[in-house]
Amino acid sequence: MTTTNWSPQSWRHKTALQQPTWPDRTALDHTLKILSDQPPLVFAGEARDLSEKLAAAARGEAFVLQAGDCAESFESSADSIRDRLRVILQMAVVLTYAGGMPVVKVGRIAGQFAKPRSSDTETQGDVELPSFRGHIVNDIGFSESERRAEPNRLLMAYNRAAATLNLVRAFTRGGFADLSRVHAWNQEYVADSPQGAKYEALANEIDRSLAFMTACGIDLSKESALNQVDFFTSHEALILDYEEALTREDSMTGDWYDCSAHMLWIGERTRQLDGAHMEFLRGVKNPLGCKVGPTATVDDVVGICETLNPDRVEGRITLITRMGADKIRDTLPPLLEAVKDTGQPVLWITDPMHGNTYTAADGHKTRHFDAIVDEISGFFQAHEQAGTIAGGVHLELTGDAVTECLGGSDELGDDDLARAYETMCDPRLNGRQGLDVAFRVADLLASRS
Ligand code: PEP
Ligand code: CO
Repeated sequence: MTTTNWSPQSWRHKTALQQPTWPDRTALDHTLKILSDQPPLVFAGEARDLSEKLAAAARGEAFVLQAGDCAESFESSADSIRDRLRVILQMAVVLTYAGGMPVVKVGRIAGQFAKPRSSDTETQGDVELPSFRGHIVNDIGFSESERRAEPNRLLMAYNRAAATLNLVRAFTRGGFADLSRVHAWNQEYVADSPQGAKYEALANEIDRSLAFMTACGIDLSKESALNQVDFFTSHEALILDYEEALTREDSMTGDWYDCSAHMLWIGERTRQLDGAHMEFLRGVKNPLGCKVGPTATVDDVVGICETLNPDRVEGRITLITRMGADKIRDTLPPLLEAVKDTGQPVLWITDPMHGNTYTAADGHKTRHFDAIVDEISGFFQAHEQAGTIAGGVHLELTGDAVTECLGGSDELGDDDLARAYETMCDPRLNGRQGLDVAFRVADLLASRS
């Protein structure tokens, strides 16, 4: 079915918020031409596969774990990418085993290079420069040359995404993700903690189950469900020039897909119903997400569903709520009721990160583990009451031993923040805190009636 009055360029007639000011228009057009000739990063069939899995999650037959960096860096090492993946695989095992559900794994990875900003400029002393908008646009250092929007970065983003995706595909297909290696995912830094020990016990149980299956005559090496994992990519579709340049028509179906990632989402700051981001994404067939914050009205949310999913296709839309722990119990229930009344098949997942950010006394932006867990539990409660499905979690994390979020089993406090605060944007859970969250979510899933 074709989308009416849509083309990959139709967003250009609408207001596009959060776009960089490119100083050199000719260089931008030249780069976009090169980008539009590049091979797709992902394939339409993969995006359709993810849509089906998300549809299952919307029905309560699976659970979504969407996680990764707030802002990926062009400099991130192969080890750092591997460790991020490893934590996500570990968390997925916990959720699958303890929660008794297939887990749909979606990374904020291989393309999460653009950041929306609350202000176009940043002032330090008496110097005012353009804000850092992510490595796809400019650099984080505070100098004129570093903050200039460089079109060449769009190509670098494509190449970084391709290289990262190549690693992800190798790790998830080439033996690293074999369930018989479940112990090996417990990287040293995480293993050496109470959560790591709890994980180790669970991994032992899985080992015993695998040994039992082998004893029964099942050749585990032939079971792709045990030695490979499906891992999908996603990012905020923010820089529309880039997304348009990677949009291709699928030769099998004639549908358009944004081949920069399997799933794309619209951020809280760019979800205007008449805005350019809504216009662009309504025409691509990828599964779509939209962030929904505490100011979203019933009309906003119903409008998002009708705009992005007029045909009411299951698995098409994921609403990612990011209310804040102190608001979710008031703000979410009316939205759940309203969407339920429309009959729209929506997958609801919770982002317990972005509504719980605050500035600590020493000036670091942080989030407390307890608020994160509280928002997740408020999310489950709201769904329980409304009779709808709590379908997943959306987290910002890294496998590295950073100290950006407070609390967790290590009880990180204000004094720890300066020690290893490495994020380019928002504070992320470290590997141990990520696993901590997984065990809490597993409990919530297991106790769901
Ligand atoms: C993000 O996901 O990093 C982000 C900026 O979120 P939001 O759009 O919900 O503020
Ligand atoms: Co963020």
